Amino acid sequence: MPKLGVGIIGLGVGEQHIEGVLRKNDCEVTLLCDFDLSKRNLAKQKYPEIKIVESAEDLIQDPAVDVVSIASYDNFHFDQVEMSLRLGKHVFVEKPLCLHVHEALKIRSLLEENPVLRLSSNLILRRSPRFQYLKDLILKNELGRLYHIEGSYLYGRLSKLTEGWRGKIDYYSVVLGGAVHIIDLILWLTNEKAVEVTAYGNRICTDNSQFHHPDFVSSLIKFESGLIATVSANFGCVLPHHHALNIYGTKGTFLNEKTAKLFKSADPSAPPQLIDIPYPGVRKGELLENFLSSLMGETAMEVTQEDVFRTMSVCFAIEKSVKEGHPVRVEYI
Ligand SMILES: NC(=O)c1ccc[n+]([C@@H]2O[C@H](COP(=O)([O-])OP(=O)(O)OC[C@H]3O[C@@H](n4cnc5c(N)ncnc54)[C@H](O)[C@@H]3O)[C@@H](O)[C@H]2O)c1
Repeated sequence: MPKLGVGIIGLGVGEQHIEGVLRKNDCEVTLLCDFDLSKRNLAKQKYPEIKIVESAEDLIQDPAVDVVSIASYDNFHFDQVEMSLRLGKHVFVEKPLCLHVHEALKIRSLLEENPVLRLSSNLILRRSPRFQYLKDLILKNELGRLYHIEGSYLYGRLSKLTEGWRGKIDYYSVVLGGAVHIIDLILWLTNEKAVEVTAYGNRICTDNSQFHHPDFVSSLIKFESGLIATVSANFGCVLPHHHALNIYGTKGTFLNEKTAKLFKSADPSAPPQLIDIPYPGVRKGELLENFLSSLMGETAMEVTQEDVFRTMSVCFAIEKSVKEGHPVRVEYI
C-alpha cells in the first residue's frame, strides 16, 4: 500500500505535527511549508529528505499531499482549509478552525459536498490522561449530577499578544485561540448541550500595546440539563500556563491543580483523594497521529468534524455576546 502523504504548513507548533507523522509507518511527511526563510533553512538542516516550499498553495496543490496539516497563523486557516477541501484533501487544522461563522458554514458545506473527506482539529486536552480519568469518573457517576463547572484558560504568555503575530493580524480572538480548549474539554467531558451564553471582555492587560481586541473574556454558559459553566480566556494572568477546571457535582468536587483533588465529602477533616495522573501529559503530535490512524481505518477519530463544529458554535456565541453585550442562543453550525 502506498503511504499516506502529509503536508504541513507552518513550522512553529507544526514541528510537533512532524513528530506525530514520523511515528506512523504507513504515513510520511511529503512536504513542509513556511513563508519564513529562516524557518525553511532550519527545517532543511533537520529534515534534509523532505521537500520544503514557501507557499501554502504550492503545498496544498502538490499531488504528493493527501492530508494537509495546518499550523499557520489563525487568519490563514480558513483559506487553507477551503482550498484543501476543494482539491479533495483531508484536513487536520490547528485551533481555531476559522475566525467567522460564515467561514465555518462554508467549510461545513464543502464537507457535505464531498463526504469522503475528513476534517479534525488539534483540540488536545481530550488526550490528557488526567482528563480521561476525569471523564471516566463522570461516566461512572462518581461526581453525581453536575451542576457547575468553572474553567479558565490561563495563558500566562502576554508577550505573544503584545509582541508576536497574534497582535499583528487583523483579528485575534482569545476565545477562539484559547478558551476553545476549555470549551471543547467541557463538552467532551459532559456530553451536555450548551444552549445560551452571556459574555464580557476587556483589554486592561494589553492597554497601550499593539493588541486591540479583548485579552480577557469571561462567559457564562447555560446547558440544556440546567448545568451552568463559567469559562474564561485569561491571556494576561501573572501565572504559569494552566487549564483551571473545577467541576461540582451533587456527590463530589474535582479541582484541577498541579496535583488534582477529588472531594467526596465536605467534612474539613476528610482529606480529598489526590490525583497525580499526568496533566497535560500529551505526546507531541498525538492527535494528528490519531487522525491519520483513523484515515487508515485503524482506530476511531478522537475529534470528529461534528465535535469541531459543536465547539466552534459555542465559541462563536461567546464572541457574539461579547460584541453585542447581551445573552446569545447557541446556533449550531
Ligand atoms: N493546539 C494547541 O495547543 C496549539 C498550541 C500552539 C499553537 N497552536 C496554533 O498553531 C498555529 C501556529 O501557532 P504557533 O504558536 O506555532 O506560531 P509560531 O509563530 O510559533 O509558528 C507559526 C509558523 O508558521 C509560519 N506561517 C504562518 N502562516 C503561514 C502561512 N500562511 N504560510 C506559510 N507559513 C506560515 C510562520 O512563519 C511560523 O514559522 C496557530 O493557529 C495557533 O493557534 C495550537
